[in-house]
Amino acid sequence: MTSPYTNIVILTGAGISAESGIQTFRAVDGLWENCRVEDVATPEGFAADPDFVQDFYNQRRSKLQEITIQPNAAHLALGELEARFSGSLTIITQNIDDLHERGGNTNVIHMHGELLKARCSASEEVVEHKGDIVTGDLCSCCKTPAQLRPHIVWFGETPLKMDVIELAIEKADLFVAIGTSGNVYPAAGFVQAAKMYGAHTLEINLEPSAAENQFEEKRYGKASVEVPALVVELLASE
Ligand code: APR
Repeated sequence: MTSPYTNIVILTGAGISAESGIQTFRAVDGLWENCRVEDVATPEGFAADPDFVQDFYNQRRSKLQEITIQPNAAHLALGELEARFSGSLTIITQNIDDLHERGGNTNVIHMHGELLKARCSASEEVVEHKGDIVTGDLCSCCKTPAQLRPHIVWFGETPLKMDVIELAIEKADLFVAIGTSGNVYPAAGFVQAAKMYGAHTLEINLEPSAAENQFEEKRYGKASVEVPALVVELLASE
């Protein structure tokens, strides 16, 4: 007997990486408690004080590469799901860390960019970049080298791969949101689209998100507990 689902789309947010030691944004000790979004996560903030913004991401980039930061049971369970699920699995993440990849997932869409990459501010070409980026670090893709910036989608900029995301959601028969507060669009609106296309919708979070009433099914608890349990259920009939 195979699983009732053939096209699973999973949207993740900062909550799936919290137990790996990566700060979330809107908790009491969240990233946005210590600094203003306007200063470090907008093009205007970057233009106003590029060194401050580069340093903000340099600190997070080096933190992500510390030995203590490892994929947790939730990431590993999703890696297992990709390896053993006979249907299609798409991970759409708002996270800029590489823990889904390190947990075993390959089909990962980073709609808000990636911390371990840099982007040319002129051509928008993206390159792997694991060290600091500072003012004066220039691209090697333009005739007149341009300043490298973090490959992060800031507020006011367009999230990445929205066409691919919309196609995946159209085909989904199961849509699961994990560890996101449902405060930021367009990600917070994906559940509504999934429901419209007939998917079963499930929210896994520490507490009800702002989009909670859009979900048919809700499971509240730690991602490291709830996600492995969900994966066992989804693979039971594989
Ligand atoms: N297990 C499950 N859920 C958790 C856990 C955990 N261990 N820890 C925290 N959470 C939940 C919180 O309850 C919260 O609802 O994860 C959610 C994290 O919410 P946010 O901090 O708002 O992060 P996110 O939803 O990913 O933010 C979306 O906002 O600032 C932008 O670009 C940034 O991608 C980010 C976007």
